[in-house]
Amino acid sequence: MNLRVIPGGRGDASASGASGLLVIGASEVVTMAGGLRAGPEQDDVARLTAVPGGREPSPSSPVVATWDDRIVGVGPQADLERLLEAEGYPLGRFARLDARGGAVTPGLVDPHTHLVFAGSRENELELRQQGAGYMEILAAGGGILSTVAATRAAGEADLLAHGRRWLDEMLAHGTTTIEAKSGYGLDLPTELRLIEVAHALGREGPIDIVPTFLGAHAVPPEFRRRPDGVEAYVRNILDEQLPGVAAQGRARFCDVFCEEGAFSADQSERILRAAAAFGLGLRLHADEIVPSGGAELAADIGAVSADHLAAPSPAGIDALAAAAEEGRPVVATLLPATTWFLMKERHAPARTFIERGIPVAIGTDFNPGTSPTPSVPLAMTLACLNLRLTPDEALAAATINAAYAVGLGEEVGSLEGGKAADLVIWNVPTSRQIPYWPAADLVRTVVKRGRIVLDRG
Ligand code: NIG
Ligand code: FE
Repeated sequence: MNLRVIPGGRGDASASGASGLLVIGASEVVTMAGGLRAGPEQDDVARLTAVPGGREPSPSSPVVATWDDRIVGVGPQADLERLLEAEGYPLGRFARLDARGGAVTPGLVDPHTHLVFAGSRENELELRQQGAGYMEILAAGGGILSTVAATRAAGEADLLAHGRRWLDEMLAHGTTTIEAKSGYGLDLPTELRLIEVAHALGREGPIDIVPTFLGAHAVPPEFRRRPDGVEAYVRNILDEQLPGVAAQGRARFCDVFCEEGAFSADQSERILRAAAAFGLGLRLHADEIVPSGGAELAADIGAVSADHLAAPSPAGIDALAAAAEEGRPVVATLLPATTWFLMKERHAPARTFIERGIPVAIGTDFNPGTSPTPSVPLAMTLACLNLRLTPDEALAAATINAAYAVGLGEEVGSLEGGKAADLVIWNVPTSRQIPYWPAADLVRTVVKRGRIVLDRG
């Protein structure tokens, strides 16, 4: 590799109050350097390995150096230390963090969560066992709508506490950045509250949170009673919710549940175009249950990400492939824990996406209905088993591609000079074992923006 240290050490480094970390003793460092992955590149994780069999740190072991909240260099220990010194970094101010033969990867990025809600829906698990469909439960006033009732009734303090609890779980599974949707308020004041809670939790840290407005998640009960309910609710989103959310200035994306029984492609398009005019990035729940024109719409309007895609039409796949080929890629954010938890036999055609050059990300879809898991490693296991991604493709999907799927591809998702110092030391010697031990606690240490925020010793 071409070893480089980010300038900045010279001059003011020794005078500044900053300090750094040298993550030593790793059996491998998976850097994910090189940007968004698609096609055959999705399998290339840019892995640096220690001398075969060598678990003791040696001069050639790969090391990650952080300074303040940034990665400043990655490379063989002796060369890296020499370069750091040459750049004027005070080596004495780097704490040594020994990975003790574990693998080091970028912090995981979860590009699709419904973090902020109240209540739980374990009853639906049993309803589905008895044969009820997910959209059927929603049409009968349950599903998303039962979480809307619980969430509207919850106070801000409860929502914050609940969010914190699940963020802790996410961190314990190696996640350092997430996207978090609203969508359980479905009226302006509650949607604003959910976005504010997501924003506040992100400020609190350590996990960074990208808030998304999902007013078009379902039609709320007060509109369902009206004959023109869906259309009237779409107008409410356009006339009241979007302007209010834009004025609040916290949400970075707008999402829509584009699905038969939720919002049509036409309604989704009107909402997303209006959102774009307010400066929001675009993403959508596309073709989760049946082909609904979501993939086509995502490609057409330049969405950053099209999510789920368990049931895209051939035309939808063509549209995503064409967009990728034309250099305006839409990330296919696949959520294998959802199809698993919904007991679906049909999974997203991930191999087709990769063959067609469409970049693939994966996420948890953490939510109380279809995917109550906070674990990206579990989603990686399911991506390997049910979507047939290789372990390396799955890791690229959960780091660098996930970062691009939330608009943070230049900031997180890889261990490269200048990016945020977000990394995980795993209790296993290679990242290929992360999906291999499902439901095990494999995270030893998490570093977020240069700070050790979790350490299991
Ligand atoms: O991504 N399908 C739409 N939204 C979520 C589920 C939300 C819920 O059931 O509460 C999803 O699957
Ligand atoms: Fe979702």
